Amino acid sequence: MPLPKAELHLHVEGTLEPELAFELAARNGVTLPYADTEELREAYRFKDLQSFLNLYYELMAVLRTEQDFADLAGAYLARAAAQGVRHAEIFFDPQAHIARGVSLGTVVEGLWRALGSSERDHGISTRLIMCFLRDESADSALETLQAATPYLDRITGVGLDSAEVGHPPAKFREVYAAAAALGLRRVAHAGEEGPPAYITEALDVLGVERVDHGLRCLEDPALVERLVRERVPLTLCPLSNVRLRAVETLADHPLPAMLDAGLLCTVNSDDPAYFGGYAGDNFRAVRETLGLSEDRLRELARNSFVASFLEDDEERRAR
Ligand code: HPA
Ligand code: ZN
Repeated sequence: MPLPKAELHLHVEGTLEPELAFELAARNGVTLPYADTEELREAYRFKDLQSFLNLYYELMAVLRTEQDFADLAGAYLARAAAQGVRHAEIFFDPQAHIARGVSLGTVVEGLWRALGSSERDHGISTRLIMCFLRDESADSALETLQAATPYLDRITGVGLDSAEVGHPPAKFREVYAAAAALGLRRVAHAGEEGPPAYITEALDVLGVERVDHGLRCLEDPALVERLVRERVPLTLCPLSNVRLRAVETLADHPLPAMLDAGLLCTVNSDDPAYFGGYAGDNFRAVRETLGLSEDRLRELARNSFVASFLEDDEERRAR
């Protein structure tokens, strides 16, 4: 039995497996610039975040209808359940779809077809987190939040993703304040490729409750001390860090040192279709390569529920 765990850093668009991409392309009459799934998989060699994002946005062309988003989320939930995921807080990137002429309603209603019955179908409770693309303008983020008004009963929080360097969190001060006023929870990617100062800014200017990645906090001992003291959860993604070259090899990953430092770390999959594994695969990889003890693995699983947006009673049931 895989360890029961919560997944807190998962981009639903990053769960698009090559087989489903081709199936949806055929269904929607979209031509992909790859002959077959094998040739597509060949393209999964990334040198940094941007080289991954280019393919990630390109393949989104196959997602057009509510049913496409339902099939995407349903396939993820089935895989996650098999790897012990009991709760998933799922990111989506509305601006990337709206820009292609796919409405926010299509995306949310589609995802909800799978998420609405996820507890019954897969034994996984879910939350939706709407991410703003940080390489788009602050005005575009505000417009996206406005467009989400009819769907706020289905959206738990907001996040910030896409190309990090050059797009500091403070750019999104206003939209995060507006999201907080609406009662939305707040998270942001920070310190994946960007400097430690972006982590501090995400906490102080955006008021985030969790930091996605946060890996580069290690370059600033005072920041590490603060994250430990304030029990700020970090949603780490070890296989992603290897594939996007944030670390050289998995054996170099600082997760053990981060746990030893007292940081509230969680292990997640980020974009599992692209990075070689789902939540359980990430757990297995860190156990096998980093030699984490059973106690440490249980701590990581416990942290994932503690850091989640589940209420206490839900959290107890999920664990
Ligand atoms: N980082 C930033 N943006 C993203 C990622 C990521 O790992 N995945 C999807 N959008
Ligand atoms: Zn991410």
